[in-house]
Amino acid sequence: MSKRAVVKGVGHYLPERVVPNSHFESFLETTDAWIKSRSGIERRHFVAEGQTTSDLAIAAGKAALANAGMDADQLDAVIVATSTADLTFPSAATMVQAGLGMTRGFAYDVQAVCAGFVYALSNANAMILSGQADRVMVIGAETFSRIMDWTDRGTCVLFGDGAGALILQAEDGVGDTTDRGILSVDLNSDGRHKDILYVDGGVSTHSTGHLRMQGKEVFRHAVEKLAATAHTALDKAGIATDQVDWIVPHQANLRIIKATAQKMGLPMDQVIVTVQDHGNTSAASIPLALSVGASEGKIKQGDLIVTEAIGGGLAWGAVVLRW
Ligand code: UT7
Repeated sequence: MSKRAVVKGVGHYLPERVVPNSHFESFLETTDAWIKSRSGIERRHFVAEGQTTSDLAIAAGKAALANAGMDADQLDAVIVATSTADLTFPSAATMVQAGLGMTRGFAYDVQAVCAGFVYALSNANAMILSGQADRVMVIGAETFSRIMDWTDRGTCVLFGDGAGALILQAEDGVGDTTDRGILSVDLNSDGRHKDILYVDGGVSTHSTGHLRMQGKEVFRHAVEKLAATAHTALDKAGIATDQVDWIVPHQANLRIIKATAQKMGLPMDQVIVTVQDHGNTSAASIPLALSVGASEGKIKQGDLIVTEAIGGGLAWGAVVLRW
């Protein structure tokens, strides 16, 4: 027998305002056709004035609790993956704890940019396997619209806001690959590439700043590293690629998603794709895709899923889980 961190609930929240590609044509030298063909993005959601990352995270967390049929006080921990927390401190996670009405347990943020949700899942899994928590809510939530340079057409057309949440619970499995829950994790980072995707401001430098990206360079690393980390995670779990039901990738660019699926030898009808509707929501993109995939009836209990993501750092990784 071995302990597993099993998914008990999933939910998401997207801000009301939907912004089509045509919005950018009015103030940038860009076109709907360019954005669609180079990234696959057709629209994204942006927060309203005054709406914050923790607001999105709380709404997603409530949806996940409802989906699991749980109360907030049944949770032992809340982990929020974000690079766009409301304040320097306290953490977005403690704001979520208060917002959910959770009066016990503990909460903290994880910052690994677009790989944040994969890192947070790994954290939650470790908490559960080590006995520090039995029920953990893992949220990815971002308001990247707050850190866009609206004069930089190479970045501002690519990102969106949103949040997704998953609830993991300790359960006994038999210890083989038929178990539900997280089966393996592979995490990587390489700080030598910190200058190809970063924000040019922050608390110990100067205020807030804007996202800067060498898109082509990040693209090159993504195509090479995502399939590799997914394969490593599958090897660690002892699972062959042909046993995979779904790839749930970080949603940055449809061309990266297609290239990774091709490298893994899996067809696009086994990939959950939401980038056309959400844009790149950084740490929120995987839980958003999981929630959309489950609510559309694609992802079902017992399905074998590989999630993979890469972002600023560079930081990247993959998680293999059975839903
Ligand atoms: O989530 C974290 C990970 N992030 C990513 O994975 C993003 C990775 N990168 C990408 O998705 C792609 O590199 C982009 C979508 C950012 C760009 O696509 P690309 O095929 O790599 O285009 P490019 O950067 O090579 O740009 C091609 C041309 C350039 O013009 P020149 O230099 O060839 O004259 C750009 O200036 O397209 C131009 N361009 C645009 N044109 C119209 C760049 N942005 C735009 C735009 N509209 N919005």
